[in-house]
Amino acid sequence: MHQPVGPPFSDTLVRRLREADRVAVLTGAGISAESGVPTFRDPDGLWQRFRPEELANVEAFLANPTLVQGWYAHRRALVEDVEPNAGHRALAALERWVTARGGDFLLATQNVDGLHARAGSERLVELHGSLLRSHCIDCAAEADESADARGPLTCQACGGLVRPDVVWFGEQLPEAAFAQAEQAAALADVYLSVGTSAVVYPAAGLPLLARQAGAYVAEVNPTPSDIAGRVSEQVRGTAGEVLPALVAALGGASGIRGQESGGNDG
Ligand code: APR
Repeated sequence: MHQPVGPPFSDTLVRRLREADRVAVLTGAGISAESGVPTFRDPDGLWQRFRPEELANVEAFLANPTLVQGWYAHRRALVEDVEPNAGHRALAALERWVTARGGDFLLATQNVDGLHARAGSERLVELHGSLLRSHCIDCAAEADESADARGPLTCQACGGLVRPDVVWFGEQLPEAAFAQAEQAAALADVYLSVGTSAVVYPAAGLPLLARQAGAYVAEVNPTPSDIAGRVSEQVRGTAGEVLPALVAALGGASGIRGQESGGNDG
């Protein structure tokens, strides 16, 4: 007799989410994989083809600004060409569901692709910045990287080199964003860690901080992350499959769909 396959997450996770006053989420490159954006450390990931040491740090940028600007322009074109997927949209729906009940919600992403905002997430902090913004390394003026340039792109105000607003290896995360993410992790009743290998700190420490502070921590990932053994529940599956099913399980027959459509259930 073929047993119907249940959801990959426990009733406990659904119950804990239903009871939660405060929900926080950390996402990594895995949530954008189903939109067609390559991750970093999967077999077909970016770091398999390029060396981060050559591209994602200030020294590499100063040594070869045209190469680094070109690599980020390539990645920007790629993300502008793709759409948020069901996983991004499910987290935006989860935010609406939690806040509609008077709860607190925060999504902290390591991703720089802008897809969470395009999917409708509002309570969002970008821990590693954004590909979609650029600034001058000398006067910090916002710059337009789409301008055509022969050789390295420079600031129209002061002539300094233009760099993407992303956090490079060895650089500090945006202080306010990380403080918000830390506080949300410390206060969360439920913490979801989605699509991250959890190897890059301090972001990777957020689910552990949540667990230590008493949150129920669930990891959504097709393969175990570096912190898999230290979470409350490992949900084996992709963001695009698991998250919509989890949000649907919360809403039951009408709730979440009613919320999503913005109308009533009548
Ligand atoms: N759904 C959920 N998770 C997925 C999916 C998917 N469809 N596809 C892959 N994954 C998982 C992989 O199993 C892996 O654990 O996503 C994770 C991606 O890990 P990384 O490529 O290391 O990306 P991330 O964790 O975001 O990297 C963190 O490292 O290079 C820096 O600044 C960069 O923000 C990045 C940081």
